[in-house]
Amino acid sequence: HANIYLSRHGESQLNLEGRIGGDSLLSPRGERYMRALPELIAQAQAYTPYGHADDDRERSRGADGDADADADADAVREPESLTVWTSTLRRTRQTASLLPYPKIAWRELDELSVGACDGMTYAEIEQRFPAEFAERDNDKYNYRYHGPGGESYADLVRRLEPVIMELERHRHDPNKAILIIGHQAVLRCIYGYLLSFSHDELPYIPIPLHMVMRITPKAYGCVETRFRVDI
Ligand code: G3H
Repeated sequence: HANIYLSRHGESQLNLEGRIGGDSLLSPRGERYMRALPELIAQAQAYTPYGHADDDRERSRGADGDADADADADAVREPESLTVWTSTLRRTRQTASLLPYPKIAWRELDELSVGACDGMTYAEIEQRFPAEFAERDNDKYNYRYHGPGGESYADLVRRLEPVIMELERHRHDPNKAILIIGHQAVLRCIYGYLLSFSHDELPYIPIPLHMVMRITPKAYGCVETRFRVDI
């Protein structure tokens, strides 16, 4: 099964101010993540967890005293081809800009639309719309932001259906890996789907900035490995 890699975009200018929504570019720190990402992805692709089937094969060949063990192992394991999926928003496309792989920008991967709250901080939302702020706390999965285009996590899960179907198609081709450079709410939905979280848990899954999650689908469930950089 092909690996799926997930990363949030680097820190954006609006992240720095604690504002949600918008279409800002990266902060200086986010730009450092963008520059570190090609190497981090290469590292994540090269990593072989102990006990992985391919790893066992390499090690048993080595133990046989086969001098060409490494070359043979390389010949057996075809290199993983990678395609990068971003949203159409600038912070994800900028984060992916230095990656030497084919890229596709999906509108379906755009961040959960916060409607009338676009560009606000959580403190401002609480002050201006206290009843709604409380309502969201009560049922975060179903709460839909008011105003133009406002969405709930439930709406987002429906919007992501074509993305999930395409991921499922890729998942059965062992050499076609996908890297999604996404947004927090969107990655919660995709990660939650892959790792079987419930709807109630999904809006609270922590997806930290500046980290790549490698998800390897297995016959039952998935194995997850995380790769971080200090930036
Ligand atoms: O604007 C969307 C945020 O990335 C998601 O955070 O759903 O926890 O407010 P939240």
